[in-house]
Amino acid sequence: MRHWIVVVFGMLFFGTALAETIDIVELKEEYERPKSIPFPENNQFSQEKWVLGKALYFDPRLSSSGTQSCATCHNPSFSWGDGMGLGVGHQHQQLGRKSPTILNLAWDEIYMWDGRKATLEEQALGPMESAAEMNIDIKDLPTILNEIPGYAILFKQAFPNQADPVSAENVAKAIATFERTVVSGEAPFDRWIKGDESALTDEEKRGFIVFNTKANCAGCHSGWAFTDSSFHDIGLKSEDIGRGKMLPKVEKMQFAFKTVGLRNIELRGPYMHDGSLKTLDEVVDHYDSGFVKRPSLSDEIETLNLTTAEKKQLVAFLKTLTSADEPVSMPVLPR
Ligand code: HEC
Ligand code: HEC
Repeated sequence: MRHWIVVVFGMLFFGTALAETIDIVELKEEYERPKSIPFPENNQFSQEKWVLGKALYFDPRLSSSGTQSCATCHNPSFSWGDGMGLGVGHQHQQLGRKSPTILNLAWDEIYMWDGRKATLEEQALGPMESAAEMNIDIKDLPTILNEIPGYAILFKQAFPNQADPVSAENVAKAIATFERTVVSGEAPFDRWIKGDESALTDEEKRGFIVFNTKANCAGCHSGWAFTDSSFHDIGLKSEDIGRGKMLPKVEKMQFAFKTVGLRNIELRGPYMHDGSLKTLDEVVDHYDSGFVKRPSLSDEIETLNLTTAEKKQLVAFLKTLTSADEPVSMPVLPR
């Protein structure tokens, strides 16, 4: 990491053409896409589980109002978020935080803005049960599903060795299996990492260097999915203390939220857990000098003094992370 940053700075200093200045070999190690999706030992992938999980994910009949599915708030049309600043739940009540994307979560290590869920399986039943969201009693879930005969077949196929497979535990496993396959596709940035110099413009390449050096974005948005799966206070004005609620004694966890991955970020505004920043330009201005200074502020955040050109380069680079994914097909739900 350090090595190529030094190379980049050195070469920029001597005015060498940008394309040659980056140590592509070292870069590949940091940003190369993974070859396969990791599935946990106790919930390996099967096509049948995926089919069931996709149906459950898109099925509003799992909510008490019959109108809310996971996809209401994690909608593929909005890069698996809802395109709103704050989520809207049962009977249109406003939720306290933004609905995050579920993109690339197979690689994440902890879930929710404040990290209160350890696995996708553990997470999946939460929104069904939440009074503010899908608002059902998990005990009623098998009854709800057994009233739809088509589901019995899908559960049998997905969990073939079980006498009574229609259970909350299997609902969670199937949904988590589907979620892990929600992965952003190849973006211009990936083609550049693989060696196609024409995939990015010089401005975008410069933005990548600013991202990794002067702006220190990579201090937290690291790796191919651009997240360290960790929690930081980035100085937003919101009064929500985030992970601080779970770790009240740890100063740096006050106002700390999970680092969001940046793949397809262009499609996901407004930004942050409170939806307070409307555009990527506002995000860059925030990190440049717009943050609140307080004891919990991350040590990785300091005034950047970016030039207007550098800010433009950063935003141009962020847009190279957008992949042209195939449209997601809606499942025909069981009757
Ligand atoms: C009413 C809107 C709404 C519905 C319906 C909903 N979610 Fe969410 N989801 C949210 C919000 C808001 C958060 C963030 C809450 C927080 O962190 O405090 C969230 C967080 C998540 C996360 C954590 C993402 C991360 O990066 O850690 C996952 C995974 C998730 N939801 C999956 C689901 C699944 C699966 C369903 C259906 C069973 C579902 N959601 C239904 C709004 C919703
Ligand atoms: C100290 C770690 C850290 C640094 C440095 C950092 N980020 Fe972030 N980033 C985060 C965290 C944590 C969040 C979520 C914060 C929240 O919502 O409260 C986030 C959120 C974002 C989001 C919004 C994502 C979404 O879906 O809402 C964007 C865009 C972003 N960062 C871009 C950048 C850029 C560009 C830089 C460099 C100028 C940068 N970040 C530097 C940790 C960091």
